Amino acid sequence: QHRALVIVAAGSGQRLGHGIPKALVELGGRPLLAHALDSLGPLRAPGLGIDLVVLVLPGLPPARERLAALGAEHARRAGIPVIVRDGGPSRPASVARGVDAVAEQARHHGWDERSLTVLVHDAARPLTPADVAERVARQVEAGSVAVVPAVPVTDTIKRVDPAGRLGHHSEQAEQVRDTLPRAELRAVQTPQGFTLEFLLRAFAHLGELKAEEAEALTDEAMVAEALGVDVAVVSGDARALKITTPADLLAAEALLAERGS
Ligand code: CTP
Ligand code: MG
Repeated sequence: QHRALVIVAAGSGQRLGHGIPKALVELGGRPLLAHALDSLGPLRAPGLGIDLVVLVLPGLPPARERLAALGAEHARRAGIPVIVRDGGPSRPASVARGVDAVAEQARHHGWDERSLTVLVHDAARPLTPADVAERVARQVEAGSVAVVPAVPVTDTIKRVDPAGRLGHHSEQAEQVRDTLPRAELRAVQTPQGFTLEFLLRAFAHLGELKAEEAEALTDEAMVAEALGVDVAVVSGDARALKITTPADLLAAEALLAERGS
């Protein structure tokens, strides 16, 4: 049984709006990628037991060099091999490149694809506690080929018809279609866990789809659903929040301050 961790960090962070790749944006004085690596704790420790880390980074210098150096430094401290790959144009493309690197290493080491757990994590979730990753990995090893961590939803979620304008309201008003039953809803986080065998099958399936069909499948768990494969849900954690907007960064600063005190 082996475990690999792929961290995708190749996004540009448009919505955060710092003008630098999001993985380099600082939280409490350190880049998000540094937090993403550290928050999972000692990667080699018995609970998590990661054998290999793949970082998928922006292709352009100087961000690439800075982030790769950070990865190399972590590798030295954690005593774990860290491999770096350039990202692709979308998150799924970046994940695919990271998984390719895992597959290469698995062949090199003679690791079995079915008993290799791949945790796919976003650098944009810098404060994810180690036990989320542990729960996901354990569920993969209990027999689920696709596993997502998730938390209950607190907002009431309505489905709207964005094109369905209400005759008697302003230009911007959308038409409500229905309200989704909140008790059945979950907000999905990362790391998501898969067997390497499943991920290779998922990418082969995506390769057979038309471009617009493939684009609709925005994460690997959705590919599992499309293939009729069961996806297991385990408990996520509020601290695994995703940094998308400046307000998220403020929320993360508050969580960090609380942890430090
Ligand atoms: N990601 C990636 N490669 C891409 C796009 C996204 O590796 N081409 C990664 C991001 O680095 C991030 C995760 O996927 O860790 C989730 O993406 P998102 O939060 O959308 O980050 P960005 O794409 O950087 O942000 P934005 O969409 O605002 O530009
Ligand atoms: Mg994005």
